[in-house]
Amino acid sequence: MTDLNPQAKQMADESMVRNLAAQARAIWPQEVPLLRRYALPPEPRILDAGCGTGEAASRLAELFPQARVLGVDIIDHHLELARSRYAQLAPRLTFEHQSVFELTATDRSFDLTVCRHVIQSIPHPDRVIAELARVTRRGGYLHLIAEDYGMLHFQRGALDPRDFWHVAPTYFEAATGTDLFIGRNAFGILAAMNLEEIRVDYAVVDTLRVPRDTFAEILDAWRDGYAEPIGELTPINRESAVAYFEQMIANVRDPRGYAVWMAPVVSARVPSDSVAAEQRE
Ligand SMILES: C[S@@+](CC[C@H](N)C(=O)[O-])C[C@H]1O[C@@H](n2cnc3c(N)ncnc32)[C@H](O)[C@@H]1O
Repeated sequence: MTDLNPQAKQMADESMVRNLAAQARAIWPQEVPLLRRYALPPEPRILDAGCGTGEAASRLAELFPQARVLGVDIIDHHLELARSRYAQLAPRLTFEHQSVFELTATDRSFDLTVCRHVIQSIPHPDRVIAELARVTRRGGYLHLIAEDYGMLHFQRGALDPRDFWHVAPTYFEAATGTDLFIGRNAFGILAAMNLEEIRVDYAVVDTLRVPRDTFAEILDAWRDGYAEPIGELTPINRESAVAYFEQMIANVRDPRGYAVWMAPVVSARVPSDSVAAEQRE
């Protein structure tokens, strides 16, 4: 059977906790206007699927002060951290142990279903997206951050980071049965499900829009959490992986350096009852 959580070790690592905090600081400000576009009811029900430490679930609860937000994940330590960090937002914000492959909610429970930085790390992302659509009400929205490791660009130094990003994700995804280029493939999955208003926007994590320290923290955390499995699963050994990350971190920290990570924000609307009925006819 395929491992449904091939990055379990990296996801549970302390480096991931700091990574999620830095990623949220980098990306959330650019996500807010995208989230505000959705026509939500006054008291929306929101699901954050694969919520990790609650970085986005808590921000969603603050952005939509009348909303009820449920965050689900399969790492209990993340859920405990989220519950203790954001206790002041309970009971409007709650966290439960659930798998995104098999959510316990009945069909059409949520007005907005968010899933950030998850579908690149699991096999069968199409199954998960279908499960997210199942629990979203007709006329409600899916909002996904679908990472794509072909959308990171760094300047060349002694090493050429293009070589790293060409090789490491290609072997890593083959070894883990995942799609590390899901950013460009999510549109087609949503289109095949006949969802409406499919959009692909970008959170641009670059050295102009995001503080260099924040961008560097993301790369520090990737180095600490992923150099070892890259060494095990790809032709790039651990020491080389560390050297590539160190050079990319120096590029980001250089006041004259430029680097960019484009994170696709893919969204769609679940067809309303009338459209769904027409599609069935
Ligand atoms: C990179 S983290 C992103 C966390 C959060 N969405 C954020 O944006 O900060 C990916 C999360 O997906 C969770 N995850 C992986 N497989 C899952 C599954 N089958 N069901 C629920 N969560 C899962 C991991 O435990 C991890 O917390």
